Amino acid sequence: MTKAKNVAIFISGRGSNMEALMHNCKDDPLINFCLVFSNNASAQGLEIAQNFGVETKAFNKKEFESADAFDDAIIALLREKEIDLVCLAGYMAIVSAKVIHAFPNKIINIHPSLLPSFPGLNVQQKAIDYGVKVAGCTVHFIDEKVDHGPIITQKSVEVNHNDTQETLTEKILVQEHKIYSEALKLFCHDKLEIIDRIVHVNNI
Ligand code: GRF
Repeated sequence: MTKAKNVAIFISGRGSNMEALMHNCKDDPLINFCLVFSNNASAQGLEIAQNFGVETKAFNKKEFESADAFDDAIIALLREKEIDLVCLAGYMAIVSAKVIHAFPNKIINIHPSLLPSFPGLNVQQKAIDYGVKVAGCTVHFIDEKVDHGPIITQKSVEVNHNDTQETLTEKILVQEHKIYSEALKLFCHDKLEIIDRIVHVNNI
C-alpha cells in the first residue's frame, strides 16, 4: 500500500490554484497537505489555507543576509515537515538550483500557457498578441530553466477573436484548477515516471 505524500504548496498571491488543489483532493487518502509557504506575508491565499486547517509560513528573501541563507531556510522547512512534493501555485519567484537539487523531481508548477510556447510572465496577453487560435495551461516538473521541465499534463482552450486578456485568463484558470488537481493525484498515487524528460503517466 502506497504511503500518503506530504504536500507543500508555495504561493505569492490569491491562491486560487492552491484552493482548488485542497478542495478537489481533500478526500484523497494519499494526499496530506502539510504546509503552505509564501514569500509574501500579505498573500490572500494564506488565510484560505488557514481556513482549510493547513499550517502556513511566510518569509522573504530580503529578510535573509543572502540568497543562499534563504534557500537554506526553505530546504530546512521542507525537511522538517518531511515534504514529498512541492506544488508551486502562483509562486512569483524563481526556485534556485540549490532547492531544486535538494528535492529532485519533487517540485511541480502550473503555467498558464501551452509550453514550450510562451514561458515567462503575462503569457495570456502574449498569446492574444501573437494571434494564436489555441491557448491553455501546463503542469510540469521544474528544472533549472524557467517554465522548462518535463510536462505532466496540458489542457487547451480556444482563443476567439473577441477574447481579452481577462476572458482568456479566466478560461485558462478554470482548466488550471482541473489539471493541477489531476496531476497532484497522479504524483501522489505514484503514477508518474520520468524517462529522458518524458513523463510517462499510468492512469489511476
Ligand atoms: C495562475 O495563472 C498560475 O498558472 C500562474 O499564476 C497564477 C496564479 O493564480 N503561475 P492563483 O494564485 O493560483 O489564483
